[in-house]
Amino acid sequence: MSDIETLKQENRVFEPPAEFVKNANISGMEAYKAMCAAAERDYEGFWAQLARDNIQWQKPFTKTLNEADAPFYKWFEDGQLNVSYNCLDRNLANGNAGKTAIIFEADGGQVTRVTYKELHDKVCQFANGLKSLGVKKGDRVVVYMPMSIEGIVAMQACARIGATHSVVFGGFSAKSLQERIIDAGAVAVITADEQVRGGKQLPLKAIVDEAIGLGGCEHLKHVVIYQRTGANIKLVEGRDLWMHDVVAGKATTCEPEWVDAEHPLFILYTSGSTGKPKGVQHSSGGYLLWAMLTMKWTFDIKPTDVFWCTADIGWVTGHTYITYGPLAVGATQIVFEGVPTYPNAGRFWDMIQKHKATIFYTAPTAIRSLIKASEADADVHPKKYDLSSLRLLGSVGEPINPEAWMWYYKNVGRENCPIADTFWQTETGGHMITPLPGATPMVPGSCTLPLPGIMAAVVDETGHDLPNGQGGILVVKRPWPAMIRTIWGDPERFKKSYFPEELGGKIYLAGDGAVRNEQTGYFTITGRIDDVLNVSGHRMGTMEIESALVANPIVAEAAVVGKPDETTGESICAFVVLKRARPTGEEAKQIAKELRDWVAKEIGPIAKPKEIRFGDNLPKTRSGKIMRRLLRVLAKGEQITQDVSTLENPAILEQLKQAQ
Ligand code: WT7
Repeated sequence: MSDIETLKQENRVFEPPAEFVKNANISGMEAYKAMCAAAERDYEGFWAQLARDNIQWQKPFTKTLNEADAPFYKWFEDGQLNVSYNCLDRNLANGNAGKTAIIFEADGGQVTRVTYKELHDKVCQFANGLKSLGVKKGDRVVVYMPMSIEGIVAMQACARIGATHSVVFGGFSAKSLQERIIDAGAVAVITADEQVRGGKQLPLKAIVDEAIGLGGCEHLKHVVIYQRTGANIKLVEGRDLWMHDVVAGKATTCEPEWVDAEHPLFILYTSGSTGKPKGVQHSSGGYLLWAMLTMKWTFDIKPTDVFWCTADIGWVTGHTYITYGPLAVGATQIVFEGVPTYPNAGRFWDMIQKHKATIFYTAPTAIRSLIKASEADADVHPKKYDLSSLRLLGSVGEPINPEAWMWYYKNVGRENCPIADTFWQTETGGHMITPLPGATPMVPGSCTLPLPGIMAAVVDETGHDLPNGQGGILVVKRPWPAMIRTIWGDPERFKKSYFPEELGGKIYLAGDGAVRNEQTGYFTITGRIDDVLNVSGHRMGTMEIESALVANPIVAEAAVVGKPDETTGESICAFVVLKRARPTGEEAKQIAKELRDWVAKEIGPIAKPKEIRFGDNLPKTRSGKIMRRLLRVLAKGEQITQDVSTLENPAILEQLKQAQ
């Protein structure tokens, strides 16, 4: 039985604990349904009220939604605000000045705490520093930083002065970084000398130098460096500055730059099915609203919570549920520099115990690898730790298989914590489909129901609704405040990717398949419908990896497919044709290693194919189209049962069957 078949038949139901329901921000299914009904009744009124209640506007908005230029929707367009003001100053005014905003734990275990007042002062100083360098409203700033208080400060400081940040994950290569600096037209890069993960020091500044050295970054004026390790680095006179020098002597107040609600708060690059990564552009007002609401609804956030999202600020999860959401609602949060397996695979449980985390949000990949680790070593099993502070768990980034869900529920949540399996995307800004912890009965492996106001549906290729039980395409039928606004510099691609004409041009195409349960209407995500892979919760386009491979002078052709993987969800399998004869044995191993390292250099280590198979050719139709469908079957090691009569060269299948 396939995974999807198993999921369709999953019928275990877990009710949220009564105690949780009693105190929840959204308490019980009736409350949830009433909110959904309110959104149905008066869609704009629903959002307008929430935006008034949650955001502190400098200038109140009078228009809620402008659909005139659909799909370029505008929300709260005549309102003005500042996101950093809403995250920081507001907390100083409402009694949270002395409250711990961030508990930072370094890779080696050192803990640093900052209060809201301290964080505010740091952000203001750095904002003033950036201004003194000439960075101004509307400029783009690339942030290439480790997980750190300073990384959050950098993002918040950009928001404070109205500069649009574009965070690039620290695992991306010089080339990927250069492409993003150029595409965004960044005037500054904020980085660190090095990052420290799992006891290892990895260069960041040197990679920035290499990226700039690749050329094309003429608009870039400054590189600001946070001194993390004190490693010996090269400073370029007139261009490079230490972060501590930039903030030295700067005022600890900084009048926020009031921006329009639609002002781009950030651009975040993500992979699509074709071409280069796309710069997903997010707004200020609508995005902030959703970051706050989902903190309150999905995470049921309360003043006494200690919230921990284990994501990196280089991904959207880190933007919404580290840099913005928790601060905007005045929460205390844990920020972690390291990796879950260092110094041992009990690190997460140890940190939950030590800091008394109440809400824990992580990825299925991490859970699966920690299951394995705790089977191998009983000392790192969560049962060995006191996790009684936990009251709510979350999962994000990829489907969580029922077995992993059950383990998480039993061993980490002690059958007493609801699990929010949150389905969303870089483009959606925040959660879309997820159980509400104090309302929705949970089914392992299902993200259950859309949040109030989110008009998710399953449709066929022409955009028509499908009945429950029938698998189709996941769409969102109405715009929502936190949605992607455009692809930076490429509005046509935005329209084509997300609002295709075949679906009428006005409904959002998520890029995932989904099916709803016949009885409950619950959604189960069945995986991407495009050529996008999800490896350990990292999103990658097969085309990007193929382009990287064929850029190597020895490669003639390459096709990349996903292969199901027990730990990482999917793994990358590449079929490669070389310009020389097909290598075998040791030579094949050697070349495969070279190509893997090559991809790491071109894109980043996360894009390395796990497996590379060499062939004299690739399976193609007579018109020359590569039959990826067949490659997927071969990668899985399954027998080909499909019709291969349209294939130009069926004999090739035999050759590609074997893993080398
Ligand atoms: C893709 C988005 C979610 C923010 C971080 C990743 C997959 C995400 C789930 C889930 C099943 C999920 C989808 C989606 N995905 N969450 N709970 N269940 N699939 O954001 O890098 O933009 O990736 O991740 O395929 O389209 P992203």
